[in-house]
Amino acid sequence: MSNESGQASLRKTAALPPVDAAPGSHLAASTQALDRVPAGSATAVIVNLGCGTKTSERCINVDFSMYALLRRNSWLLPLATPVIGRERADRVRAMRGPVIRHNLARGIPFADRYADAVYHSHVMEHIPRQAVVGFQKEVLRVLKPGGVQRICLPDLEHLVRDYERSLAADDLTDTAAQRHDVSVAAMFEQCVRQEPAGVGRRTGFGPRLQKLVLGDARARGEIHRWMWDRVNIRTVLREAGFTDITVRSWNDSAIESWAATGLEVDGSGGEYKPNSLYVECRRPV
Ligand SMILES: C[S@@+](CC[C@H](N)C(=O)[O-])C[C@H]1O[C@@H](n2cnc3c(N)ncnc32)[C@H](O)[C@@H]1O
Repeated sequence: MSNESGQASLRKTAALPPVDAAPGSHLAASTQALDRVPAGSATAVIVNLGCGTKTSERCINVDFSMYALLRRNSWLLPLATPVIGRERADRVRAMRGPVIRHNLARGIPFADRYADAVYHSHVMEHIPRQAVVGFQKEVLRVLKPGGVQRICLPDLEHLVRDYERSLAADDLTDTAAQRHDVSVAAMFEQCVRQEPAGVGRRTGFGPRLQKLVLGDARARGEIHRWMWDRVNIRTVLREAGFTDITVRSWNDSAIESWAATGLEVDGSGGEYKPNSLYVECRRPV
């Protein structure tokens, strides 16, 4: 699919709020990325969509968040730190590699057949269900033939099994009820959240300013719009045109030198997002 038609199909279906993408930013973002990864580069081109602060030098990282803005304008960071807090500021400082600020509801900001691999972690559950096939067609468009998409998602199957276990373990005590509430929250809290994570229950001027700067959780793309498991993900990937759809583990990938990105490793070398679903698929050759 061409850039034009990919974007048009996304615009038609996607209901994600446009946060930062100025007119023409699609082309501007493509140019920034191409500047950093010259044509004919020996290194595989890996795109990390919806990167948040989890970026890699081995990737071209894309997000529409405040973190991407601060990473691209580091002079703003000292001014922003009192508002966003030291922990968030430190996460921005730890970001590595090129970062493009772009709203994916406007399409993926790269030319057709640009990337050897496209990765996104805990992003697709934030896209409205009716826009997901359009998003997947965009991923297919920017991948080279034979290129790999790697997807990491909250695993609905795992959450439901956890919920069932919690129900079965109920012994009518308050402790069991509290534990059960945690397993219900794991499924639903992010679907209904309004305040940005971390500032919801705090009051006072600081938290109020933070909420103002960080914005409504829905506008920030923090809300879960759908949930995925190994069955429904297969359906949308097939519909978009992908083949070789395979469930993987967190440390197993068909992407060459994937481990070197460090994107799925936490500070102590373990799994960054435990209990996630990992799926890979290919653009047909
Ligand atoms: C749960 S975070 C995951 C961040 C990172 N990939 C990770 O695994 O830690 C979801 C990310 O998707 C980004 N996101 C959601 N909707 C987006 C959109 N329309 N365009 C660009 N980024 C988006 C958010 O800004 C956020 O950084």
